[in-house]
Amino acid sequence: MYRILDKEVIAVKIVKLKVEAPEVAAKAKPGHFLIVRVNEKAERIPLTIADYNQQEGTVTIIVQEVGFSSRQICNLEVGEGFLDLVGPLGEPIKTEGYNKVVCIGGGLGNAPLYPKAKSLKEDGTEVVSILGAQTADKLILEEEFDEISDELYMATDDGSKGHEGFVTEVLEDLLKQEDDFELAIAIGPMIMMKVVSELTAKYSLETIVSLNSLMVDGTGMCGGCRVTVGEETKFACVDGPAFDGHLVDFDEQLRRQQFYTDQEEEVKQCQHVGGEHQCHKKE
Ligand SMILES: Cc1cc2nc3c(=O)[nH]c(=O)nc-3n(C[C@H](O)[C@H](O)[C@H](O)COP(=O)(O)OP(=O)(O)OC[C@H]3O[C@@H](n4cnc5c(N)ncnc54)[C@H](O)[C@@H]3O)c2cc1C
Ligand code: FES
Repeated sequence: MYRILDKEVIAVKIVKLKVEAPEVAAKAKPGHFLIVRVNEKAERIPLTIADYNQQEGTVTIIVQEVGFSSRQICNLEVGEGFLDLVGPLGEPIKTEGYNKVVCIGGGLGNAPLYPKAKSLKEDGTEVVSILGAQTADKLILEEEFDEISDELYMATDDGSKGHEGFVTEVLEDLLKQEDDFELAIAIGPMIMMKVVSELTAKYSLETIVSLNSLMVDGTGMCGGCRVTVGEETKFACVDGPAFDGHLVDFDEQLRRQQFYTDQEEEVKQCQHVGGEHQCHKKE
């Protein structure tokens, strides 16, 4: 079992878990993700490695409760853990060689963004961060980003923290004033990454996004995480999840994300008792 050593609720329905996984921590790089399974009947759930510590042999994941399986993970307590934890998966992103980078996070996207921004800072890059959320109580990792950012901006939909409105509005103001960014990294809801990519294309600013495509096996075999990048079909699990935002077919991704909405809603209503789904049990 991969034991949970520490658990912290960092925002409404968002928990941070430190998990004992020395082999994974030893190889983890910014951009990698894991696939976890709580028990033998549970779904395989992809989660970004939000931080890692090789000395401690731990990886940190940040999980938002959106449906049945993420709720199951958020309910785990210190001392409990995962039956399986596979990783590190995916392609790490390159963080060396840049002078100035703008990092844009939306909602839970701040979690996968953090290891990249931290690594850029460690490599001597000037990091400008823009963090967004619907409301101030959903804004995560503000302190962590404050430590590693040269400039930090915030935006909330209701104006409860920082700029009232979207991160893209803050980004546009910045891009109008400063023309020395060499890279933008945007991670958040698919629609946010689409709008950021459209905006940065106007300024010819190289842009990396990280796709949270539906995944099943995480090994490039099932095709579940297909994405069209430029003229090519790629698999987010092995070729990504980070891609050139100017080449991703976001409309196709937005359509694919809706594919299982009805089934997800049905399963969300299920209870799990002793780790077992109770949804399809006959009276
Ligand atoms: C590379 C990658 C990294 C991710 N990192 C994180 C992370 O750090 N923290 C976090 O909270 N979430 C992360 N996710 C999303 C997370 O995997 C889903 O929120 C989770 O699978 C939802 O399962 P559920 O049963 O709770 O929700 P469901 O009710 O099944 O679905 C709710 C929504 O979650 C998404 N989703 C469902 N199943 C999957 C799946 N197998 N693969 C991908 N997305 C799915 C869909 O958009 C769906 O609409 C990541 C996804 C990917 C692909
Ligand atoms: S998750 Fe199966 S091919 Fe990527």
